[in-house]
Amino acid sequence: MRRARGLLAALPGTALSAESGVYETAPLGGPEQDDYLNQVVELQTTLAPEGLLAAARRIETELGRERRVRWGPRTIDVDILWYHGFSSDDPDLQVPHPRMEERRFVLEPLAELAPDLVLPSGRTVAQALAGVGDQAVRRIGDGAAPAVPQGSKRPSMDYADLQAEIRRLAGEKGAVILAHNYQRPEVQDVADIVGDSLGLSRQAAASEAAMIVFCGVHFMAETAAILAPDRPVIAPEIQAGCPMADMVDAEGLAALKAGHPGAVVVSYVNTTAAVKALSDICCTSANAAQILRTIPADQEIIFTPDRNLGTWAAKQAGRQVILWPGFCPTHALIEVAEVQAARKAHPGAKLVVHPECDPEVSAMADAVESTTGMIRFCKEDDAKEYLVGTEIGMLYRLSKDCPGKIFHPVSRLAVCPHMKLTTLDKVLNALRTEGPVVTVEPETQAKALRAVKRMIEAGA
Ligand code: 13P
Ligand code: SF4
Repeated sequence: MRRARGLLAALPGTALSAESGVYETAPLGGPEQDDYLNQVVELQTTLAPEGLLAAARRIETELGRERRVRWGPRTIDVDILWYHGFSSDDPDLQVPHPRMEERRFVLEPLAELAPDLVLPSGRTVAQALAGVGDQAVRRIGDGAAPAVPQGSKRPSMDYADLQAEIRRLAGEKGAVILAHNYQRPEVQDVADIVGDSLGLSRQAAASEAAMIVFCGVHFMAETAAILAPDRPVIAPEIQAGCPMADMVDAEGLAALKAGHPGAVVVSYVNTTAAVKALSDICCTSANAAQILRTIPADQEIIFTPDRNLGTWAAKQAGRQVILWPGFCPTHALIEVAEVQAARKAHPGAKLVVHPECDPEVSAMADAVESTTGMIRFCKEDDAKEYLVGTEIGMLYRLSKDCPGKIFHPVSRLAVCPHMKLTTLDKVLNALRTEGPVVTVEPETQAKALRAVKRMIEAGA
């Protein structure tokens, strides 16, 4: 178990954040099995549920488990009991674990970490434990994993405390907290406003708050800094970037412009301030087609950096565009074969995708929408079940905003690792230290502001 904890803590983008004591448990009837030891640990991870499951299986194999036996004697069993903001009834990955509420050996250690966690039955862990049948379960000691420093916080237990402290400090400092739809559920829950790039830009422009805390990726906070240069814009995790935004730079765009001197440059907001400064107008996925329609049909247009959004918006608007060959690596994981498999598994479900998906995927969709557009579509639409082709953070937003409807990810691998870097601890730290502040050099800010303002005015 000690080695399993160590291997879990060593997974990429993963930290072991809390652990229960160790229990000795008698088997629950069934085939012959010796007493066994069990423990619950809590991880903070950027891995998608499927990636975490694959890693758990690799760890079991490394520690000597042979997968010949499903029930019965085995060396080690690493299960995912619960994954924040995610549920799945896929036979391979049933989360929350369907049998956890009947098992004292799960509930006892889990109650040490998260007694108030609400289980699928609607009961908390503590309530389920009070009602569960007898099983010989004995706590034999502390886990003593070196990965968790003594006295460290236990995040799932402490989410409510962290959120309360964040709200108190935000009030005291007159800060507004903005969060993108792909942020971790607990970060979305603490924000004043959760939205898509366009909505959040508008909020940043309209806000009178003394400071803006932007939970998203760098270009989003930078866009807020362009729109509100008189106020500090704070990015709780300054390393959270956007690989697509980094696919175009000012030098490259200047060279392309030199080859097309009369062209209007339309840049997705997923760009740096330096690229925006060389652009005539910005757009987001929510208004790209609308922005293109404002440009005369006989005018040459350069569209950067997303070739997929550019292709889709040009088709909607009936415009020809010169495409920059950028793309989103997260949306590239959503492939035609997966859409076909998801449709087979959920035949009645409608397909809703983000325009950053490949054109072949968008062509299969019932709706191609920005992240907030997806929520509007699913609220107004009369279907009950949807396949969602975008970053999996959207499933939390959609499930929350459309109660009673069912959402399945097209690909569980579609996780934007940058979007997941912002945690509650970092938001709290950002408020306490009032940093890190995102700044834009004044000349670039003034030029970029023209392009961003034109976009906001065009949509008004
Ligand atoms: P939205 O503008 O739809 O929020 O999307 C931003 C983004 O980065 C999508 O990957
Ligand atoms: Fe950038 Fe893609 Fe992440 Fe959006 S999902 S922030 S486009 S890498």
